[in-house]
Amino acid sequence: MKDYKDFHLKSIENPQTFWQEQAKSIDWFKFPESMLTKDAEGFDRWYEGGKLNTCYLALDRHVEKGRGEQLALIYDSPVTGKKDQFTYAQLLHEVELVAGMLVKLGVKKGDCVVIYMPMIPQTIFAMLACARIGAIHSVVFGGFAAHELAVRIDNAEPKVLLTASGGLEIEKVIPYKQLVDNALEEATHKVEHVVIFQRPFVKATLQPPRDIDWNELRNQSKPATYVEVDATDILYIIYTSGTTGKPKGVMRDNGGHAVAMEFSMKYIYGAKPGDVYWAASDVGWVVGHSYIVYGPLIHGCTTILFEGKPVRTPDAGTFWRILSEYNVNVFFTAPTAFRAVIKEDPEGIFKKKYNLDALRYIFLAGERCDTGTLKWLEDLTEIPIIDHWWQTESGWPMISNMPGIELLPVKPGSSAVAVPGYEIVILDEDGNKLGSNEEGELCIQLPLPPGTLPNLWRNTERFKAAYFEKYPGFYNAEDSAYIDEDGYIFITGRMDDIINVAGHRLSTATIEEIIASNTSVAECAVIGVADEMKGQIPIGFVVLKDGVNIETEELIQELIQNVRHELGAVASFKKVLIAKRLPKTRSGKILRKTMRAIADGKAFKAPSTIEDPIVLEEIRVLIVQNQPTI
Ligand code: COA
Ligand code: AMP
Repeated sequence: MKDYKDFHLKSIENPQTFWQEQAKSIDWFKFPESMLTKDAEGFDRWYEGGKLNTCYLALDRHVEKGRGEQLALIYDSPVTGKKDQFTYAQLLHEVELVAGMLVKLGVKKGDCVVIYMPMIPQTIFAMLACARIGAIHSVVFGGFAAHELAVRIDNAEPKVLLTASGGLEIEKVIPYKQLVDNALEEATHKVEHVVIFQRPFVKATLQPPRDIDWNELRNQSKPATYVEVDATDILYIIYTSGTTGKPKGVMRDNGGHAVAMEFSMKYIYGAKPGDVYWAASDVGWVVGHSYIVYGPLIHGCTTILFEGKPVRTPDAGTFWRILSEYNVNVFFTAPTAFRAVIKEDPEGIFKKKYNLDALRYIFLAGERCDTGTLKWLEDLTEIPIIDHWWQTESGWPMISNMPGIELLPVKPGSSAVAVPGYEIVILDEDGNKLGSNEEGELCIQLPLPPGTLPNLWRNTERFKAAYFEKYPGFYNAEDSAYIDEDGYIFITGRMDDIINVAGHRLSTATIEEIIASNTSVAECAVIGVADEMKGQIPIGFVVLKDGVNIETEELIQELIQNVRHELGAVASFKKVLIAKRLPKTRSGKILRKTMRAIADGKAFKAPSTIEDPIVLEEIRVLIVQNQPTI
């Protein structure tokens, strides 16, 4: 055990020495010459000159060092009734073959591959196969609709797209191939090949020569070995929501990422090689990338791939069943998942059927952890329940209680303390550092540690503008927070128009763009309002064009369906209110924050720059009248 304060201080006082030491915990083909350098655009890069391969670190080296027979991957799919297991040696074999498939299709180091697949082992094979041959993968969450996939295809410009015939959402079949066909029709970038993994419950129609059957290609392919890549070469791109409707392509490099994964598994999650680690998330999100795939495997753990929901697959006991059946040591999910469990099993009856002796910690992230959920879990499991905070951009936790270093007392409402490598400060609007218990914008003193985003894919200007312009010398996380006198950090919300729906990060601007494209709509605003189970849900305010002659209910349903079809059902966009006008500042900015405060029943004050207070009052009445159904 280490002393947290001392360990953290070392990482801040001398980051280069600190991260040089940590870099020794992974196997390099060539140890980096420098720790921290600047790239051509003046951004920090870690481990230049280092050579490695992330797939080698996740698989080959464990087999070489005698872990070949240990389970690497457990697949548990209550939606299909299927279970499967792969040892490290078996997983390596599968990955070698998928890497061979990509090589056969002409995919080379530096090429991009889009993976739009459900939670099946082939998705993990595909990610690791890309890493093996130095290709850059971009996994697109299966819950996004065709349009969102098309936007990502056009930005990533993949050579090959890997998909499956479909996914299962409890009992509902999601025909992935149809969505892919629609996306490719919409995208301007032409993908050379689409490889389809056929699932028994839904058959995809292939369009040769573009479309290729996964298993046929696998049978014709030879295993491919790993290639040496630079530490600064890109491992993957993951798209996340920003303040505009266009997603940001967060880049992750190989060297910094591998060190951060190893570091976080050991020190944050307190996991040991050989442990069973389960992140009940989706591979399409950053949590899935880091803690279903790369973190546990690089650290030599057994990881679990769960294709199901916390409830209704088949009941609210699924989590406990899996935790017990596979002797899970460390578990990670989003608070919303447990809120869904609590709703169906408030007394925790299901838990009592299972033996959870192996379980040491439950980690929660992705959204604010409400005290009720935290307490319920603490009382039921009697183990530490650890709320921790991070973002797609960081790729690994930035604020956490860290049992691998020193387990600190839990303070409900706080994600605990800054992780080594992160010097967290709270700034006011003018960039002044705030004192204890003063709320402001959460920023991080540069340099960011290894594993964090080095840039946005093909969008350096946006990278600069989004994260570094407002507070030079700092990374701006866009969350509001305060730090108490003991150094515990309390996240209070987002500063921008990002909302968090059931742990899914979405941009209200994307929804607004879809609504605004309707010919009956003059203007609109979308805000996230508090929801008991999902944390937040979006609600739309729509002003109709003069002379529009359409049944209001018909239009509302049309708008809801448009969002579902263009963005995806995950947005849970189900409520639209027709307004006469929208409240604005004199410069024309819609008062979304004030509207949000009204909808959440919080105290609010109209800004002094308001254009017309009467309009705000009209909106307040509209919200209050509709409150019971929000
Ligand atoms: N593919 C296609 N559709 C998907 C999907 C996917 N991968 N994931 C969700 N959807 C659809 C659902 O079927 C649902 O559609 P519907 O409106 O037709 O019912 C809609 O999107 C909303 O889904 P979801 O957010 O899952 O809501 P839910 O009410 O079905 O379940 C929870 C609620 C809380 C159980 C669920 O949201 C959950 O498990 N959340 C945890 C999320 C998580 O792990 N986030 C990662 C952060 S660490
Ligand atoms: P994502 O990039 O999808 O992981 O979303 C990151 C955002 O989710 C953060 O900026 C926060 O707004 C929110 N978030 C993540 N974890 C937490 C947490 N533990 N507490 C509060 N908010 C969180």
